[in-house]
Amino acid sequence: MPYTKDDDKKYQEELKHKIAELKKEKNAVILAHNYQRESVQDIADIVGDSLQLARSAAKVNADIIEFCGVQFMAESASILNPDKKVLLPVKEAGCPLADMISPEKLMALKSEHPDAAVVCYVNSSAEVKAESDVACTSSNAIEVVQSLPNQKIIFVPDENLGKYVQSQVPQKKLINWKGFCPTHIRLSEEEVIRAKREHPQAEFLAHPECNPEVLKLADQVCSTGGMFKYARQSPSKEFIIGTESGMLYRLQKENPDKKFYLPSEHLVCANMKLITLGWVAHSLEFEIEEVRVPEAIRLKAKKSLDKMLEITYGK
Ligand code: 13P
Repeated sequence: MPYTKDDDKKYQEELKHKIAELKKEKNAVILAHNYQRESVQDIADIVGDSLQLARSAAKVNADIIEFCGVQFMAESASILNPDKKVLLPVKEAGCPLADMISPEKLMALKSEHPDAAVVCYVNSSAEVKAESDVACTSSNAIEVVQSLPNQKIIFVPDENLGKYVQSQVPQKKLINWKGFCPTHIRLSEEEVIRAKREHPQAEFLAHPECNPEVLKLADQVCSTGGMFKYARQSPSKEFIIGTESGMLYRLQKENPDKKFYLPSEHLVCANMKLITLGWVAHSLEFEIEEVRVPEAIRLKAKKSLDKMLEITYGK
């Protein structure tokens, strides 16, 4: 019999059912980043931005944390909650930005600037976090930098976020690493101008990983979590969304009377999209791929993450 779309739908329903059963049987909780596929967001217990997920991961009381995101996010969950088994459904779901700095390169930079504090974006490895004073996400980077007594700050690895923070905290001197997110830097000024021309009433919300020329065109620069909050509260009815395509699903679902547009077809993170319902079911069934950080590194990396959570949420 030829394959039909209905079969596909049926298969998806079977997978959803299997995941629900496995979750119960294994006492697992599913966390998903805002960039995940719609089908994966639908089966998650919590969908959020990097900061919300790190905070949730630290408090999870289940035996297994099934992390539908990329490697550094699952690693952070394991660092913060080491007694839980943290699973990343697809081992290859990495973050090219996080791979742009190594602990050795960071140590070399630190020795050139011994008076600087080190702030690492959470999009970094556990080893880099272990060499940093404090971590940050796109939603608290300004607050974290402002909270430090040092005038000089080494900021790794995202240069666009570092430059944006510098523009908001001019009293500090940021030494920015030249890393970038391959998805966000693909969004061009021309694409945003075209989208604004096509939707003249729309507000443009941009993620701080976008290029500075793009950020100059933004009505609001915010994290993915910040975009949900802003879109909900704003009286505007239309928004151009300058970040990964996965955001549009929940924005539209939560704001049915508003319209959301993606300014470029290139805003797709291939790593985030590696995770499918099939891989989630497989991962839960066989309890793979487990993410664990060697204890000596974990303890040092945890200090950076704990300090970030303390600055943002208090003790
Ligand atoms: P948020 O912290 O805004 O969710 O961003 C995560 C990320 O990896 C952006 O590329």
